[in-house]
Amino acid sequence: MTINSSRAAGVVLPVAIGFGIGVLLTITTSYGYSIYKQHHHDDDNGTGHGKRQKITLADNTVASSSDGRDIRIGVEGLIGRTPIMKIKSLSQATGCEILAKVEMMNPGGSAKDRIALAIVEQAEAEGLLRPNSNDIVFEGTSGSTGISLAMICRAKGYRAHIFLPDDTSTEKIELLEKLGAVVEKVPPASIVDKNQYTNAARARAEQIMSHHEDNDDDDDDKNKQAIFADQFENEANWQAHFDHTGPEIYAQLGDSLHAFVTGAGTGGTISGVSRFLKPLLPNLKVVLADPPGSGLFNKVKYGVMFDLREREGTRRRHQVDTLIEGIGINRLTNNFDVGRSLIDDAVRVTDKQSLAMARYLVERDGLFVGSSTAVNCVAAATVAKQLGPGHTILTVACDSGARHLSKFWKAVGPIGGELSHESLDQILNQRD
Ligand SMILES: Cc1ncc(COP(=O)(O)O)c(C=O)c1O
Repeated sequence: MTINSSRAAGVVLPVAIGFGIGVLLTITTSYGYSIYKQHHHDDDNGTGHGKRQKITLADNTVASSSDGRDIRIGVEGLIGRTPIMKIKSLSQATGCEILAKVEMMNPGGSAKDRIALAIVEQAEAEGLLRPNSNDIVFEGTSGSTGISLAMICRAKGYRAHIFLPDDTSTEKIELLEKLGAVVEKVPPASIVDKNQYTNAARARAEQIMSHHEDNDDDDDDKNKQAIFADQFENEANWQAHFDHTGPEIYAQLGDSLHAFVTGAGTGGTISGVSRFLKPLLPNLKVVLADPPGSGLFNKVKYGVMFDLREREGTRRRHQVDTLIEGIGINRLTNNFDVGRSLIDDAVRVTDKQSLAMARYLVERDGLFVGSSTAVNCVAAATVAKQLGPGHTILTVACDSGARHLSKFWKAVGPIGGELSHESLDQILNQRD
């Protein structure tokens, strides 16, 4: 189901949720909006904490209603409905319930599967992409979005064409190539440079489309259509988190949640989830976790990006001097801006803290996370200390450490059989 039809279905179908699996299949991705409407309808006491609704998420993965089998349809069917785990070590050390939405369990290994699918489905609904046509999806990305797009393009009969900085880690480039994406490496450049990877991707998509319109020779691309996925500005990004991630969290935790803490790359996750949850949980504290070199911390705390030079993206890379990948940025993207007013606070996390946290989690919980998740966990523990024992704090386990072996985990250093002696307090109090 497309984003647009999902919204439409959400308006008319909430009361039909109990009518059986056939109906459930039809309204599959409308559940988020359904819950939203239902709660607002029932919660008129103005506190935002009306009687909690019992939420049953629709399941789009049941192939047959008659034989009781539970089958996911294709890789698309594996996206979303990720579990929430309690991180035992951090919970014990803080006296809070520290939870993580385990987005690394999506089939492409991150939450980016959700937005890649949403962007492609929206383009299909608009007639810009035609399944099994070898139409092309262009994106500029050094990270997980390229991998998610490459996976979905294979599944739906498109070609993914990914532009990335030529210093991107080899494991990511190889993964993209093995998924069959065309990979084009360009030198790192500022966002104002026309050769910057995002700009290069946009220009190539536009070139194909103009070629497509004008061309009357026998060129291979003659009948191809192309889109620029545009994850930073595309509204389908935050909308996917509003339609799915947010409702899932509410269905899993209800009114028990006190704080949601996460980093922002495009900002789609923090905006979409906050826009869904805040009207339902007005006392929810939304906190940005921000790595070094990012201007977002100052934007949230003081209303300005770190400085004008950075805001305008004149730095060579969008982020500098950090081992953290996927979060932190120095320009205001549409996907961050649409949820910015809902963010209550920000926590700055140093690389040293993130490296120590990654070690702490693997040694105590067997949880092997990527760099942005380590940042998120430092910030979640910081918020737990601020709020005091007895609170429930949710963060996001974005991706696995396997994507970060050659850079971040190399810097963590060897992990022996023994526990390192660094306590959580020592990690939270240390500075670079
Ligand atoms: C590994 C990882 N974590 C977190 C994020 C941040 O998510 P969002 O773009 O929704 O802000 C990204 C975004 O690229 C990412 O790649």
